[in-house]
Amino acid sequence: MLKVGLIGCGFMGAMHANCYKNMAGVEVVAFADIRREKAEALAKGTDAVLYGDGKELIENAKVDIIDICLPTFLHAEYAMLAMDKVSYVFVEKPVALTLEQGKQMLEKSRATGCQVQVGQVIRFWDEYVALRGIIESGVYGKVSHANFRRISPRPDWGWEDWLLDYKRSGGAGQDLHIHDVDYVLSVFGEPKSFYSVKNILGEVNSYVNTLMEYEDFVVSVEGTWDLPASYPFTATFRVAFEKAVVENAGGKLMCYTAEGAKEIEIEKAELVGGVEGGNISDLGGYYNELVYFCDKAAKGEKIEKATLCDGVSSLTFLLKELG
Ligand SMILES: NC(=O)c1ccc[n+]([C@@H]2O[C@H](COP(=O)([O-])OP(=O)(O)OC[C@H]3O[C@@H](n4cnc5c(N)ncnc54)[C@H](O)[C@@H]3O)[C@@H](O)[C@H]2O)c1
Repeated sequence: MLKVGLIGCGFMGAMHANCYKNMAGVEVVAFADIRREKAEALAKGTDAVLYGDGKELIENAKVDIIDICLPTFLHAEYAMLAMDKVSYVFVEKPVALTLEQGKQMLEKSRATGCQVQVGQVIRFWDEYVALRGIIESGVYGKVSHANFRRISPRPDWGWEDWLLDYKRSGGAGQDLHIHDVDYVLSVFGEPKSFYSVKNILGEVNSYVNTLMEYEDFVVSVEGTWDLPASYPFTATFRVAFEKAVVENAGGKLMCYTAEGAKEIEIEKAELVGGVEGGNISDLGGYYNELVYFCDKAAKGEKIEKATLCDGVSSLTFLLKELG
């Protein structure tokens, strides 16, 4: 049995806890949250040990892996403490608040040998996994242009409203838009040039739109959380190839060719326990990334997807976009 210590029992902590419940051979044996009722809610019906501050869990819990779902400004401090204690650490995205912190985390992981995965979950999201396969197969020819969008109402669920405090979250750029940036970098690599605009009007860092220029195609990536509460959270992409357009919109992955339109069927794991109250309730990608992480930990193997290095590279690019 792989024993997990989960730090931060808010929206994402609840999501992760429910993902672990769907896995065989994995159990959360310790929860930490400074709001005790949050830890209690996730531990209900289990024998898990509860802690207040995450440092108590890191110090005392008998666990194989530590999963950090804390607000972004706390990632580096807690992840580095965890790296001293266990061989596998999962830290939510974005990897850290600053590049300096990201570099310190890299140094710590090198010094301890700890394997770290960052919650860049889009790399594990079914539709985006399918798209990567289509691009790599070349079945529709080369990409000519692509668009990725992630647009959302304001995130109002955070503890002490930390998400809307840009000094603690980095704002929509760092918290939301980084999902697509990380995915695009992982599929296409670094662009030869890019042009980024943000918040011409309104609050700082709640809207980013970036045009990335590659050798023979362009990619635009748009993200905002500056929309009213009634606007549905929307994550879409449209990729134009020489012989088709593949689009993820309206809950369907579609392929359009000269012959006609067809839906690309995706097999999804049957999961129970989505979490309401944040912007996404689907466990899918979170489950996939944690299955990958736990499998690597159980086998004692290296993390090769959404690595700490990947997380720091995406943060580096993102911070350049934000200027
Ligand atoms: N991958 C995704 O799609 C996704 C989605 C939402 C959030 N996130 C990330 O997950 C992380 C957490 O975000 P969230 O939405 O769950 O925030 P949240 O505010 O809902 O949860 C954070 C929790 O941490 C607790 N906490 C604060 N300080 C603590 C400490 N020192 N020790 C123990 N607990 C402490 C708070 O009480 C709160 O319950 C962030 O990095 C965020 O960017 C990722």
